[in-house]
Amino acid sequence: MNAPFASNVPQPMRLAIVGFGAAAQAFVPAIQANPAFELAAIVESNPEVQLTAMTLGVPVFSQLYELKQVPHLVGVYIATPTPCHETQTIDSLRLGWHVLVEKPMASNAEEALRMVLASKQFGKSLTVGHSHSFDAPIQAMKQIIESGELGTVQMVNTWCYTDWVYRPRRAEEFDPALGGGATFRQGAHQIDILRALCGKQVDTVKAKVFNLDPQRQTMGAHAIYLDFANGPAATAIYNGYAGLSSMDWTRNVSEWGILQPPDFRTWHRRNTQPVTPAQELAAKQERAKSAIPNATPLQPHFGFTVVSCTLGDMQQTPEGLVLATAEGQREIRLSTAQSPRDLVLQELAQTWRGQGTAWHDGQWGYENLRICEAAIQSAKRGRECVLSD
Ligand SMILES: NC(=O)c1ccc[n+]([C@@H]2O[C@H](COP(=O)([O-])OP(=O)(O)OC[C@H]3O[C@@H](n4cnc5c(N)ncnc54)[C@H](O)[C@@H]3O)[C@@H](O)[C@H]2O)c1
Repeated sequence: MNAPFASNVPQPMRLAIVGFGAAAQAFVPAIQANPAFELAAIVESNPEVQLTAMTLGVPVFSQLYELKQVPHLVGVYIATPTPCHETQTIDSLRLGWHVLVEKPMASNAEEALRMVLASKQFGKSLTVGHSHSFDAPIQAMKQIIESGELGTVQMVNTWCYTDWVYRPRRAEEFDPALGGGATFRQGAHQIDILRALCGKQVDTVKAKVFNLDPQRQTMGAHAIYLDFANGPAATAIYNGYAGLSSMDWTRNVSEWGILQPPDFRTWHRRNTQPVTPAQELAAKQERAKSAIPNATPLQPHFGFTVVSCTLGDMQQTPEGLVLATAEGQREIRLSTAQSPRDLVLQELAQTWRGQGTAWHDGQWGYENLRICEAAIQSAKRGRECVLSD
């Protein structure tokens, strides 16, 4: 039936996913539910994973350039392994597509800078995400800081204890030269949170990183101290060696907002039996199908984050935030109607339609990566790194 009147509703923007692993599969429900986007195609190089991608009923290709045959493609979401990001991002921008690229946006800051420059050169936007500053509680804390209700922010401390090192992985995910190791992969989230809450510009970085298991050589833990140009100090503590879980301090709420008391946690401990790379890849591909849920009943917790301001403190709760001031404690409930990936798409829709400047643009992602890199340099040199423009 013909519509009686021309519709003012904008047409959905056609988007392709590049790399259909854990990160990408987590995005599918949000893309399918968002009327601003239409999933137009998937690029995936692994034939077995292509079979999973085909269940979505869109064309599946094995190489990025094949997307040229997809009509009216507006942008791509690049969720391939980190070492692929630079080339695929620059190629996509050159082909006239906007880009959403996963964090960390590249294997090092030099690559990231070339991506930022390409975005400017080809006049197409570059957004980095998902990262945890998209989460509703972090956005709410940012708004409270900006409102001045708690005075000015003095320090933010974020702690995350996980089994990151022992989850099934490809070997390059451990290699810092390829953007691997917890300081790049998970530190990218922590620095993203700390810059959202403290300020954009970090003056100095001091850190130690830890490589604690000879069977799984990587930076699996770190302690990072940041001094911000506008005054606040911040720490990012991460331990991915599957000892304690930071869910023990977040009232059993997981990274994605699910209640997971100890007996209900999937917790990968140190392997007692040798595992081959093929077995590990198969386990990773299986895990990708359900690693990151979409709709969840509670707020996502990337560990435990406490904000201290001149007039009080605040931290996350399963339902939202709690503020503690001289007047007492006040809880704020936040909606779970939009998942973290819904919130990425909300920013992306505005950016791709040219309505407003993206917070999480290439420059933001580049600075986050530069700070992760400075932390690793600081640990190598045993002294503080000064970040200058
Ligand atoms: N934001 C988050 O919460 C989050 C979570 C997980 C991973 N990530 C990030 O997402 C990226 C991917 O990580 P992952 O764990 O999903 O990896 P993954 O290995 O599960 O998925 C990557 C997929 O890309 C495919 N691929 C590899 N090279 C390709 C190419 N040239 N063209 C097309 N497909 C190709 C692989 O076959 C694989 O299926 C990384 O940068 C990682 O840091 C982000």
